[in-house]
Amino acid sequence: MKDLLAIRGLTSETIESILDRAAYYKTSLDNGNKCFDKLKGKLVITLFYENSTRTRASFESAAKYLGAEVVNISVASSSVQKGETLIDTALTLDAMKADVIVVRHSLAGTADAMAGCVKAHVINGGDGLHAHPTQALLDAFTIKEKFGYTKGLKAAIIGDIKHSRVARSNIYLMRTLGIDVNVYGPATLMPKGIEQLPCNVCSSMEEAVKDCNVVMTLRIQAERMKGGLLPALGEYSKAFGINRAVLAGAADDVMVMHPGPVNRGVELAYDVLDTDICYKDRQVTSGLAVRMALLDMLAGGEL
Ligand code: NCD
Repeated sequence: MKDLLAIRGLTSETIESILDRAAYYKTSLDNGNKCFDKLKGKLVITLFYENSTRTRASFESAAKYLGAEVVNISVASSSVQKGETLIDTALTLDAMKADVIVVRHSLAGTADAMAGCVKAHVINGGDGLHAHPTQALLDAFTIKEKFGYTKGLKAAIIGDIKHSRVARSNIYLMRTLGIDVNVYGPATLMPKGIEQLPCNVCSSMEEAVKDCNVVMTLRIQAERMKGGLLPALGEYSKAFGINRAVLAGAADDVMVMHPGPVNRGVELAYDVLDTDICYKDRQVTSGLAVRMALLDMLAGGEL
């Protein structure tokens, strides 16, 4: 495997092998060991055309902990602003002998297009509404770390499914690992053709979270909306926000997940956010371990 562009098409064996390697790195990180030389002499370039805090910083930290050199291209100050095309930018980075390029873009298919024309390994850091494979992998890692297994678990993904590449990648990944997935959100924020994805479309919050071990909530992706899809945010949070009362119908061992960034009090209530059942910060640490595993395995030709 040269690139990681999406979850769809990955086998459960490939996914499990990444999660196993991530478990090794997670234990090392927990023990305070952040120094490895697996990527010594390699160059990792991050090219983010969309805003990011955790994904970009996570890739950069993961690459550095593995001993790589890292160059972050800030698109706002790059030649993209002078009219350079995406492919020309990719070829330029390839000519610099980049070993791995991590790209995020608002258009679906960007990472695929780039992967087709460069020698470097390409990792999709999120492309439009399409896919965010490393987020789904880190979510699966977090779930497996808590329960020890995935097969037979029940999950609900709640909120703005339509604009969420996180939801799409998670639906495919969870199903591949044997997790049953419910989805629920405002009708205007459900994508057309959702019935064709491997998930159960629910018609109430109660139905969606019933007996779930995992409740994943999503940010309202206002920057990806054309407008007019939602009433006031207060109304949204009353009907679709996750709070203690909503979770009463979930399994006793429920974990609440959020990919971040969180709009506090909108999709997630304060009585859940800063408590033990909310895994959002542990997801960030998982992300580091998963990206270390992925960089290690891709660059080492092990995938
Ligand atoms: C997500 C994204 O960019 O798709 N963020 C992330 O990578 N953790 C979700 C979001 O922006 O809401």
